Amino acid sequence: MTARVLDGKAVAAEITEALRPQIAALTAAGHPPGLAVILVGDDPASAVYVRLKSQRAHDLGMAHRQISLPATTSEAELLALVDELNADPAIDGILVQVPLPRGIDKDRVLDRVLPSKDVDGFHPVNTGRLWQRRAAFVPCTPAGVIELLKRTGVDLRGMDAVVIGRSNIVGKPMVALLEQMDCTVTLAHSRTRNLPEVVGRADVVIAAVGVLEMVKGAWIKPGAIVIDVGVNRRPDGKLGGDVEYGPAAERASWITPVPGGVGPMTIAMLMTNTVRAATQRG
Ligand code: GUN
Repeated sequence: MTARVLDGKAVAAEITEALRPQIAALTAAGHPPGLAVILVGDDPASAVYVRLKSQRAHDLGMAHRQISLPATTSEAELLALVDELNADPAIDGILVQVPLPRGIDKDRVLDRVLPSKDVDGFHPVNTGRLWQRRAAFVPCTPAGVIELLKRTGVDLRGMDAVVIGRSNIVGKPMVALLEQMDCTVTLAHSRTRNLPEVVGRADVVIAAVGVLEMVKGAWIKPGAIVIDVGVNRRPDGKLGGDVEYGPAAERASWITPVPGGVGPMTIAMLMTNTVRAATQRG
């Protein structure tokens, strides 16, 4: 079997284009959706992500503020900025790019963002609401993965899914969302015993570990759906995923490429969440 490729770039473009009428209506009513993106420090990968997010908000005609602060910024200064944006009626969504520099307590900062402006879905209130299947802002990367899975047209009910990686940003919310799709979900991580066997049982594999080609093609169950969340640097400087793409594509039914798979979906879901925040504002 040779896998069909899930084109995240095309799906992301479709999703963002579909937002334009809502953005136009909000703008006509005098209040375009407003997104604030905060970058602290000089992590080069974060700088790229933040620029892409601001660019897309700009392309869609949203009001956006990109705030870049030096790595020397204190936690108190960052909290004061979040307070200011929380109170700003022109801002509907606030995103604090992580990781944050050492010396800043990430949890304290993320907890400070109003849950109603938490378009990243990182606030514990939104996390809790997600696990209870109540309306919530869902973290953008796992939400994007679900959109890609829906595009396969495969009925996922009862399927065995394995998520590799237990981060708050991807792995854990991914488990909640797959459970809501009626999958039987296994959360694998760095202490998981016999990972090849665990992966080999799965009809759906979500790789979110951040290690280049750690998931071998030979592990994949023939016909499985493989979603690669990893964005890693190859020795030659190019980007590569967490999955050994070529051999995995020979066994899978569907697979996402890196780049051009999950990455563009993250941004599309951020735009979706921001428009939703703007629509729901009081
Ligand atoms: N760092 C890596 N992914 C993300 C994300 O989706 N949002 C934020 N704020 N930081 C990240």
